[in-house]
Amino acid sequence: MKGKKQTLGEFIIKNQDAFKFSSGELSSLLNSIRLAAKVVNHEVNKAGLVDIIGAYGDTNIQGEDQQKLDVYANNTFIQTLTRRNIVCGIASEEEDHFITINSIDQNHQNKYVVLIDPLDGSSNIDVNVSVGTIFSIYRRITPVGTPVQLADFLQKGSEQVAAGYVVYGTSTMIVYTTGDGVNGFTLNPAIGTFYLSHPDIKFPEDGSIYSVNEGNYLDFPLGVKKYIKYCQEEFENRPYTSRYIGSLVSDFHRNMIKGGIYMYPKGSRNPDGKLRLLYECNPMAFIAEQANGKSSDGYRRTMDVIPIELHQRVPFFCGSKKMVTKLEDFMKKFGE
Ligand code: AHG
Ligand code: MN
Ligand code: MN
Repeated sequence: MKGKKQTLGEFIIKNQDAFKFSSGELSSLLNSIRLAAKVVNHEVNKAGLVDIIGAYGDTNIQGEDQQKLDVYANNTFIQTLTRRNIVCGIASEEEDHFITINSIDQNHQNKYVVLIDPLDGSSNIDVNVSVGTIFSIYRRITPVGTPVQLADFLQKGSEQVAAGYVVYGTSTMIVYTTGDGVNGFTLNPAIGTFYLSHPDIKFPEDGSIYSVNEGNYLDFPLGVKKYIKYCQEEFENRPYTSRYIGSLVSDFHRNMIKGGIYMYPKGSRNPDGKLRLLYECNPMAFIAEQANGKSSDGYRRTMDVIPIELHQRVPFFCGSKKMVTKLEDFMKKFGE
């Protein structure tokens, strides 16, 4: 690409006017996420050097070991968003309950809530494999100036105003959408600036990568088992390639660039699936749809699922449109 590269900061300002609800608040919010991402990136990159890895001696509401960097990332995002006083509430995968932000100003007008998976793929931290952050932004539905309510967070994914992820990988990137396509920005670590490197990302219509934890195969619904066999069959452009990192953000990112499907079905160990609707599936579904991809729980659109609790899990199938549609065909035909 010739000419001066656009920075994320410039991009946010430039696109503020184009955004239909623009009041500058969403821009400030995205800028805060950009800032927190840089701070977390710095810490993630040090993980191999300092004694920050390893369990923190605490478990989160999902009953999983929390790693130190989970806690660090959680605190960094929450503090950045709270101190800058730009949202009215935050829900995090690492917190049992949502956080109400009491503005210093009694008549605070903040209208956005943020839902966040501060560190996704945390089991990969201590083996030097990419991890990420996922975020999702909604406009509150209860009156501005009053404390946020659970209902402000339990909105359908289709109500999202913006969603994105940070991947702390071979290079660190922010990828996000405000409902007008998906753009990716790569961090130049020497100067701490994100540059627009992947404008208007689109999933290939069809793909040749399937990403699933096949160790759980015997536990999968029949439709998923049959679909996996279909992926492995020697016919036309198959067999597909299997790629599974175990960090949703990284698996999704690769599949969006190259064409593929990510699957986390339900099973006896995870009767509702493993991934969280509000912190993981909906933001990824919004990005996928904005990039010409598709996201489903096997039968219906992820973003149409009505949330009933903060930490709700759902089966998740997301990626190139033709692949997800094919998976749904198998689910319809063979079911559970
Ligand atoms: P988190 O680290 O936020 O708990 O998320 C881990 C998720 C997701 O990133 C990944 O794709 C999946 O769990 C991997 O699960 P398995 O190890 O069961 O395959
Ligand atoms: Mn996660
Ligand atoms: Mn997490």
